[in-house]
Amino acid sequence: EKGPYKHFMAKETHEQPIVLADAFARYLAPHRSEVHLPEEVDFAGCERIVMVACGTAHYACHVAKYWFESLAGIPVEIDVASEFRYREPPVGPGTLGIFVSQSGETADTLAALRYLKGRGGRSLAVVNVETSTIARESDVALPILAGPEIGVASTKAFTCQLALLACLAILAARQRGAIDGAGEAGRVEELRALPGLMATALTLEPAIAEIARDVSHARDVLFLGRGPMYPLALEGALKLKEISYIHAEGYASGELKHGPIALVDEAVPVIVLAPSDALFDKTVSNMQEVLARGGRALLVSDAAGIEAAGAGAWRTLAMPRAAPLVAPILYAVPAQLLAYHAAVFKGTDVDQPRNLAKSVTVE
Ligand code: F6R
Repeated sequence: EKGPYKHFMAKETHEQPIVLADAFARYLAPHRSEVHLPEEVDFAGCERIVMVACGTAHYACHVAKYWFESLAGIPVEIDVASEFRYREPPVGPGTLGIFVSQSGETADTLAALRYLKGRGGRSLAVVNVETSTIARESDVALPILAGPEIGVASTKAFTCQLALLACLAILAARQRGAIDGAGEAGRVEELRALPGLMATALTLEPAIAEIARDVSHARDVLFLGRGPMYPLALEGALKLKEISYIHAEGYASGELKHGPIALVDEAVPVIVLAPSDALFDKTVSNMQEVLARGGRALLVSDAAGIEAAGAGAWRTLAMPRAAPLVAPILYAVPAQLLAYHAAVFKGTDVDQPRNLAKSVTVE
């Protein structure tokens, strides 16, 4: 049940520190700084990974693409399941398909899995429901351990998908000799710090609700991010659309001047997801372009980032400082809470948005 929360989405958002800690207790070795999975996954022999999913699960794949490529050096292709299954992509024994699905029953994702299996690819399912069809039909299935997710908008399943995919990317890097013991230990400790950072981020809820009050009056909202924050921008836009019915779009920051900047005026909030990392200055220069055109930019960064670039912004939100590996998981929290509070201000049905079903078992 919902306990003290008004909606399942709120409850599930607040459960994230606990479920992530549970997942890491399962996927990280207890007394060593190492990834330790209950089932063998072989990345050594794979030529490429294709990651297939729908909606929010697809955005989790999009983040993981950066991790598999940068940590393990494995080429990764991502696709939405409804496209993958019909475009007849070449698949061979060197292809590892990773199918990510909370429910494990999504029709298009299941069809994509069957397509890959039929052409000799190896399959790994990343699911929340362990007894699901996608879990049963995959060569290997790993549970994300998020616990039941009732709210139609995915929250804790997204971050638990990311947590497991990060563990898989570290494991892949080890198997391919792309990371040494010290490197792995460093990444694992970054993951172990995440539940605490998530708890801190959740304490920002009153400030995020204040911002959401203004955002709830907007007709259109843009989300911008670079690198692994780009899929987070897509996820922030999806969350806002689906529960508050405000039109929102996510863009890679560098794409702004290739079209969407034409939308920018004082009525369009632009939400800039920019932790202080190697791409920070680039993202901030895109934010400056928004400000120079009279746009209202919300800078979501850490204290150092806000100190460096917060001056002209419409609003700022100071997140805890996070290692680059975990920042995309942490920044799911403001994306979720912003959408949640915008929806609450608008009075929409948060847990059962119109026209949506929790599990899409038809094409
Ligand atoms: C968005 C959302 C959907 C699902 C998508 C895939 O908040 O929940 O986009 O992520 O329908 O569902 P699963 O993960 O069950 O395959």
